[in-house]
Amino acid sequence: MDSSDLPSHLLTRDAAAVWHPFTQHGLGREPIPMAGGSGAVLRDTEGREYLDMISSWWVNLHGHGRPELARAVSDQILKLDHVQFAGATHEPAVTLAERLLEKAGLTGSAKVFYSDNGSTAVEAALKIAHQYWVNRGTPRRLFATLRGSYHGDTVGAMSVGRSSGFFNAFQGMLFETLSLPVPLVFEGFLNEEGEQAALNEIRRTLETDGESIAGLIVEPLVQGAGGMRFHSHRFLKKLSELFREHSIPVIYDEVMTGFGRTGSFFAYQQTGFIPDLICLSKGITGGILPLAVTIASNDLFDSFLGNDFSTALAHGHSYTANPVACAAALASLDLHASSDSLGQVARIHEQLHRHLDLISSHPSIKHPRVLGGIAAFDLVADDTSYSASAGRQLATFAQEHGILLRPLGNVLYIMPPYCITNEQIDRAFGVIKAFLNNADRESQGVA
Ligand SMILES: Cc1ncc(COP(=O)(O)O)c(C=O)c1O
Repeated sequence: MDSSDLPSHLLTRDAAAVWHPFTQHGLGREPIPMAGGSGAVLRDTEGREYLDMISSWWVNLHGHGRPELARAVSDQILKLDHVQFAGATHEPAVTLAERLLEKAGLTGSAKVFYSDNGSTAVEAALKIAHQYWVNRGTPRRLFATLRGSYHGDTVGAMSVGRSSGFFNAFQGMLFETLSLPVPLVFEGFLNEEGEQAALNEIRRTLETDGESIAGLIVEPLVQGAGGMRFHSHRFLKKLSELFREHSIPVIYDEVMTGFGRTGSFFAYQQTGFIPDLICLSKGITGGILPLAVTIASNDLFDSFLGNDFSTALAHGHSYTANPVACAAALASLDLHASSDSLGQVARIHEQLHRHLDLISSHPSIKHPRVLGGIAAFDLVADDTSYSASAGRQLATFAQEHGILLRPLGNVLYIMPPYCITNEQIDRAFGVIKAFLNNADRESQGVA
């Protein structure tokens, strides 16, 4: 090996040239120098393997290194690599829009607006809801959100996600929002009283402030980055119906929940409520290229029609509807069908459930919860902030044992790719249990 190939050299070059996301470089923690991946396994430059239990920030669905996706990308890139999407169209974008609408049960009743990441999918949804009111001649400013929501890192997305706690430094940049209560649920705790109280409060808010609210935005069934906080489909449906009664557009941010994560292809399909706007990204390409869509009802789309540009949506990105990313998304949809991804999620769900049941009475954890292919629990700790040491210690221990985790503060979650085997899940839980038992012994002064 040439000395410039050595992992330490890569880390030195990285430290000299790169600024990483959501990273405090002052702490001097080194990133893992990754070199390859196949299935649920990632490999570093020294050949060490890591089970990807977080689907590489929730994007990977069918496993790493899928030849089906690679072929779709290389075929498309030689046909049409890219063209601007204003004044031009192409087969991959049109076919993908048709297939997504079909999957969502929205053929003929909605349109697909393309962008390239989860935050832009949210920005587009917020702007569509905002301008809908402007175009009607009755502008409204306020967006309603659930406490603890996270919707991305651009300014609009941060504004509706300000209560996630990530954006304290940016308060001065953010627009005002209306923050609503969210009754959390976990294994053995249905929280029906909490739901009733929350809905009563929200009903009152709508009576007083309803006419200034431009839209409601929620992460359906699970608030992800805010700490894998679950609410029930019953609450979500009633909440959404309340806003619909007031003719306020309802936005479901399915950036994380889309493409099977919660057990149904889209989370909203568990509620029987069809939102006015749906944001999708992350798993849309199977986790290999950036792409996003905002699906908007025809009612919203029609409110932008006119004879001049003033009512048109002034939003677009250079790589909107990139044909190569669309081709990857089409190949990913084929993989969902050929690998029965919802069947895989059901299997993963069972296995996660079995393991959570086994550790649910452990003194170091509380609030175990599992939904579709997502499992989470809270580590008992005084510090529950994003940088909580309990989570960091667990992540470090897991990494040393070949398991890639990234707890959200003191919240440990698992969200693996759908190709993960039950044995790989067992291995991950073996490591988690070893950590919990160690932590327990240390707290009792036995270590
Ligand atoms: C629910 C939700 N919305 C939006 C986003 C932002 O997506 P991106 O990181 O692609 O901008 C995320 C990212 O984690 C998310 O979980």
